[in-house]
Amino acid sequence: MFNERVRPERLKSKITTVDEAVKLFKDGMTVGASGFTKAGDSKVVLPALATRAQNETLKINLITGASLGHGTDGKLAAAHALKKRMPFQVDKVLRDKINQGEVLFIDQHLSESAEQIHNKIIDPLDIAVIEVAFIERDGSLVPTTSVGNSVTFAAFARQVIVEINTTIPMEVLGIHDIYQAEDYPHRNVIPIVAPWNKIGRKSIPVDPDKIAAIVFTDIPDSPADIAPPDAKTAAMAAHILNFFEGEVRLGHLTDRLLPLQAGIGRVANAVLAEFRKSNFYDLTMFSEVLQDSTFELIDAGILSFASASSLAVSEIWHKRLFENLQQYKEKFVLRPQNISNTPGLIRRLGVIAINTAIEFDLYGNVNSTHIGGTQIMNGIGGSGDFARNAYLSIFVTQAASKSNTISHIVPMVSHVDHTEHDVDILVTEIGIADLRGLAPRERAQTIIDHCVHPDYKELLQSYFDRACKRGGHTPHLLEEALSWHTRFAETGSMKPIQES
Ligand code: COA
Repeated sequence: MFNERVRPERLKSKITTVDEAVKLFKDGMTVGASGFTKAGDSKVVLPALATRAQNETLKINLITGASLGHGTDGKLAAAHALKKRMPFQVDKVLRDKINQGEVLFIDQHLSESAEQIHNKIIDPLDIAVIEVAFIERDGSLVPTTSVGNSVTFAAFARQVIVEINTTIPMEVLGIHDIYQAEDYPHRNVIPIVAPWNKIGRKSIPVDPDKIAAIVFTDIPDSPADIAPPDAKTAAMAAHILNFFEGEVRLGHLTDRLLPLQAGIGRVANAVLAEFRKSNFYDLTMFSEVLQDSTFELIDAGILSFASASSLAVSEIWHKRLFENLQQYKEKFVLRPQNISNTPGLIRRLGVIAINTAIEFDLYGNVNSTHIGGTQIMNGIGGSGDFARNAYLSIFVTQAASKSNTISHIVPMVSHVDHTEHDVDILVTEIGIADLRGLAPRERAQTIIDHCVHPDYKELLQSYFDRACKRGGHTPHLLEEALSWHTRFAETGSMKPIQES
């Protein structure tokens, strides 16, 4: 096993135990770790670091690709092992520590972290922890189910701990496309003109002298846990598909559409599932995460190729993919996230981006990250990279939730991630608002007419009418604009208390 997975003879002496490897960490270090949406993350070294931190003062700044699996973020947070964390997380324990102010969180566009490391804006990394399938003969690292920021971590960390995951077959070689853009000011064009273009190498180059420890694990990725479509997500998906069909009839798109990006979660999955009932064909994806639905569409002969940075699939699909890797290998590629999410490529390819909002407002500003204006949920992830640069930027959310005590369309969002200038289409289970070519007052009326839950329609219309009387290019009643949020905080409902 060792011979097979650690091919360079000179590196075999670096094979060690997790207990030994974890001794390399010191208080105050900055660590870069593989992992993107629970895929390809450290299964043993970071959890061992959390255990060590339970008994001593050991706080690190942790940079990853995106979220980690197996509750690792939560374990680190609970052990007070995190000083700063970036660029994304989805863990409840960590979220609480961030909102309490104990962990400092930098919520960052996923394309940007690598750029900041390259450009030395972020402190140099002391250690990189990178999950791999095996180490190639030339010492380069063959990643597993994600690439994320691992290429940058390997290049810029002073020391590298390699975690070899034996659950990933060595036939994984060839599913990755490892490419890094040149330094400024001499950066070249990234030569991708279609999602299926492969422009780099199959493994991550690393200076073998930096490899400080090699450990083994046989723990698989945390499986993606995606709830099946329900009536609301199915309705949203149907609105989006109808809209695409309309765009084809108008000659704006063809039956092949344009490369799709779909955020993680139920709605994205439901939209992709809906394509199975449609006449669209030869579709492609240029996204950051591939879910079960991607491979179901490939099997159905509807999707021809998918490009992303990570595989966030269920246990069933993980097994199916790796048991039939040869069959799927030519159909998808995993890239570094500063390539999968590069704004220039998203604009060049004309990506259709579908992401989820926590709430949006009368004019189409979108909040993807904060509850009640102050409490972080997950982070912006790649939604900003895609939304800002897409050919079509679509956001979806439920019109109302929690027994309709929350309206997800509000007079003014309590936090802005995507401004009205970056948002083309808004979708709820009620309907779809096409905001392209509309001025703010037209946008507001379109949103009220098409997206708002009936319980809140009159309220929002009244707000808008009164704001218009006061005037302005973007009419608002500033003293009332956030009253729905404050009412929810005070009473548990955004609805005004009925006077008896
Ligand atoms: N006020 C109070 N609570 C609210 C709220 C509001 N306006 N809006 C949502 N919530 C609550 C929900 O009720 C829910 O609470 P619960 O966990 O107790 O049930 C929780 O916040 C999450 O909301 P939900 O609508 O179920 O979230 P989701 O799972 O559909 O995820 C995002 C939505 C926006 C959080 C998620 O898509 C995300 O993190 N997006 C940003 C990253 C991204 O877009 N990446 C894209 C590329 S992969």
